[in-house]
Order: sequence, then structure tokens, then C-alpha cells
Amino acid sequence: MVEPTLTDRPTASPVVSLADYAERARAVLPPEVWDYVAGGSAEEVTLAANRSALDRVAVLPRMLRGVDRVDLGTRLLGRPYAMPVGVAPMAYQRLVHPGGELALAAAAGAAGVPFLASTLGSTPIEQVTGVGAEVWFQLYWLRERALVRDLLARVVAAGCRALVVTVDVPVLGRRPRDLRNAFRLPADVVAANLPGGRDSLAHSGAPGVSAIGAHTDTSFAPALRWTDLAWLREHVDLPLVVKGVLDPRDAVEAVRIGADAVVVSNHGGRQLDGAPASVTMLPEVVDAVGDRCQVLMDSGIRGGTDVLRALALGAVGVLVGRPLLWALALGGERGARDALDLLAAELRDALTLAGCPDPRAAGELRTRTAG
Ligand code: FNR
Ligand code: LAC
Repeated sequence: MVEPTLTDRPTASPVVSLADYAERARAVLPPEVWDYVAGGSAEEVTLAANRSALDRVAVLPRMLRGVDRVDLGTRLLGRPYAMPVGVAPMAYQRLVHPGGELALAAAAGAAGVPFLASTLGSTPIEQVTGVGAEVWFQLYWLRERALVRDLLARVVAAGCRALVVTVDVPVLGRRPRDLRNAFRLPADVVAANLPGGRDSLAHSGAPGVSAIGAHTDTSFAPALRWTDLAWLREHVDLPLVVKGVLDPRDAVEAVRIGADAVVVSNHGGRQLDGAPASVTMLPEVVDAVGDRCQVLMDSGIRGGTDVLRALALGAVGVLVGRPLLWALALGGERGARDALDLLAAELRDALTLAGCPDPRAAGELRTRTAG
């Protein structure tokens, strides 16, 4: 065998796990954009806890179950998807790649998973649904109810499949990296679903200020109540998902107002620092809601074994955030598609090794949580 010489050796080793995308993306993104995406709030304790808590969940594999074919397919909100994974709603995707939401949504469509489109998307929702993916719209409740009504009418007309209300952002968490960087949006990235995008506060810098924080704090309604969500339930004829609950009592409130699903989430460690890792709260939330609504989780999912952990603890599916933005940053639609394919391959392996023919069977697995 001829040893490759230094010059014909590939410059980078191949991407073999979802985790490989992060450091590569870091090398290509402007540092302040990397910080905005990667960072968390305050001391980033919750950000780190999301990972360490997942690592402590051990799943007991079953043997000799005769599994020779794994079917990753699942039903979320009554609709069939290729695997129990959705693309987490993430703001301003054109920050990391010019294809932005259109590219990531197209990748989700090709992979057969839902794309959750943020209120703070940098592409209008009508264009996002135009790529043909299953789109769930993520609502941030704006201060003016008339604007909320307008947005909802557009969301329904655009053919979104579900409404996801994010409830953990009464204000944006204080994110030291963004404050230090005086982070603001470049002129060509705008809040495309909101009126007055280009001139918004999200573009105006000042030392020690996050323009994104200032913009959200002036745009979002801070004093929402469950009765507002009940109003939504009555006025919008779409499956309703409540994203951002950790306390099982809040999950029960969500069931009470008629939510079809909850997402156990701490916003990827970007909101209340010191809040528990999402995976820590998952079993209690699952117990509290029983079969009255579906339970998804996010925050820290970085591969197929993490999806298995969440399924074993009773989730029906997970959302994945940052790794898909890293893949988008590196390779646009193709990059994001590769990342979703890799995640599917990892999940297939994990289910096979655990003796599960499908995601539902993983719900029967036992777990142990280390120290
Ligand atoms: C987010 N997240 C988020 N959530 C939401 O409901 N609406 C939004 O607009 C955003 N925006 C956003 C931007 C960026 C850059 C990130 C990283 C995250 C939170 C997101 O939906 C999800 O809860 C977390 O990202 C999940 O954690 P991981 O997978 O990133 O660890
Ligand atoms: C975030 C928002 C906007 O940056 O949800 O986390």
C-alpha cells in the first residue's frame, strides 16, 4: 500500500459525528456571530448543564430482540415524519449563511422533518413555506395584539402546520458575550416577519448593549398569561405547542388550555441561567401530562444517542438547534441536509444497539442516571 504524502492527504478529516460541525463553523464565522449562536446567558451554567446532564443518562440496551430493520418514522402532532426530530426555531439564520431559513427549511423538507420557523426569521414566512417543507411557526407574542393577529393570519394563509408559542422569553436573557461584543444585526439581515425590520433597534449598536436584546425587549409582550394562550387556542385552528416549560405544573397548565404538545426546554441555556437541564425535568413533565399531550424536549441534543436518551425518558421527539446552524454555516442547504442524514444514521445505530425497531419502542427502555 502506498502511504499518502502530506500533500494529497485531505486537509480536514471527514465529518463523522454531528459534534464535528461546531469547531469547523467556528473557524468560518465572524467571532461575534459565533458568540451569539454558541453562547448562553449569565455564567452559562445551564448551557453546560444541558450537556453534562445528558451525558449522565445511561440507557439500558435490550438484547436478542430480533431487530434487523429500524423504522425511524414517527407521528408528531398527528402528522407523519421521517424521524422524531425537528429543527428548533432559531432567529436570523441569514447571519450564518446567505441561504438562511430557505436553505435550512429545504434541508428539513428533504430529510422529512419539521422546520420550526421563528417569528424573528430573516426570511418572510411565506417564502419559507414556499420551499415545501412542513413548517411549524414559532410565535413570539408581540406587544401589540393587532400585530399578533396579522402575523397569525399570515401564518395560516402560508400553510404552516402548527403554532409553537415560546413562553420562556418575557425578556431576552442577559448574554455577556453579546454585551461585550455590542452585538447587532448587519444591515442585510432583518426581522423579515415584523414591520419596520431594517430600521429596528436590532441594528443599532452601543457599547455594552446587545441590540438583539434591546429589540426583543421593546417588541415582545413581557406579561403574558395562560389566558392569552387560551385566547390563541380559540382563535387559531392549528395544533398548538407550548415551548419552554420546565416545571411540570406549567406543563399541566399547557394541557389545561388545550395544548397539543409541550417542549421541555431552557432555550439552549440562553434564558434563565441556573435553570435545570431540560433532560433533568423531562421525566417529571412526562409523568405530569401522561397521554394528554405530546412531550418534546430540546437543549443540548448533539447526536443519535441523545435522541435515544430523550425517547427513553418519555419524549416523543426532540428539537435540535445549534448543530444545524453550524452545518448551515459550513455548507448551506447541502451541509444541513448532511447533518440531518448523519443524525438519522446515528439514531438508527442507537436504536439498533438498544434493541428497538422504532422510536416508540425506546419509550420502554430503562435508564440509570449517574450521580
Ligand atoms: C434560539 N432559540 C430560539 N427559540 C425560539 O423559540 N425562538 C427563537 O427565535 C430562537 N432563536 C434562537 C437563536 C439561536 C441562535 C439559538 C442557538 C437558539 C432556542 C432554540 O429554539 C432551542 O430551544 C435551543 O437552541 C436548543 O438547544 P441546542 O440544541 O441549541 O442546544
Ligand atoms: C435567542 C432568541 C432570539 O437569541 O430567541 O435565543
